[in-house]
Amino acid sequence: MARVKVAVLISGRGSNLKALIDAAAAADYPAEIALVISNRADAGGLDYARDAGIRHVVINHRGFADRDSFDSALEAAIVDAGADLICLAGFMRLLGSAFSLRWQDRILNIHPSLLPAFRGLDTHERVLAAGVRFTGCTVHFVRPEMDDGPIIIQGVVPVLPDEDPERLAARVLAVEHRIFPLALAWAASGRLSVRDGRVIVAGGTAPEEMPINPAA
Ligand code: GRF
Repeated sequence: MARVKVAVLISGRGSNLKALIDAAAAADYPAEIALVISNRADAGGLDYARDAGIRHVVINHRGFADRDSFDSALEAAIVDAGADLICLAGFMRLLGSAFSLRWQDRILNIHPSLLPAFRGLDTHERVLAAGVRFTGCTVHFVRPEMDDGPIIIQGVVPVLPDEDPERLAARVLAVEHRIFPLALAWAASGRLSVRDGRVIVAGGTAPEEMPINPAA
């Protein structure tokens, strides 16, 4: 089986990258991580790539005059690795619109909220301040606006009484690690299409595939 090559872009810890690496270790997983790019040399996630023997490179945005030249360097590395899909796994730079549009419906991003609620940073603090009863995480196709684009999958997490941002983040992260590999598998097997801004999963989604059980 030819596996779809994927580039994973990170900026930090890389726990979602690790979840993707672990999923791709299965012989029947439809995607292969061909390249990891970090915009920060000190990103802990680079160790996961190194340990797994995955090609990895640091492309520091500070070394570029503007967003377009940074994006071009990213793209050159991605194309050179033969990647057809891109996963943003805690990548803290906004991609330019030309880049996003060129790779439309081929870039997946994970965000720790139930989008379109709570786009942006300090998500869990804002979730707690708003007093919502449920939060979660979303994998979506990227559009030029931050944390915007057609939703592929979401996982729901209840907000417990006396929750603090760190504990909530950890419980959401555990669900992130389940939904991101699933979304990538769907994308790599060609099951996803976008119509009228909505993602259609060919063949539907089995209930047991969907980690949306609030008791989880
Ligand atoms: C995750 O919460 C992800 O949703 C957000 O940034 C965090 C990255 O964590 N975009 P990690 O680097 O994957 O551990």
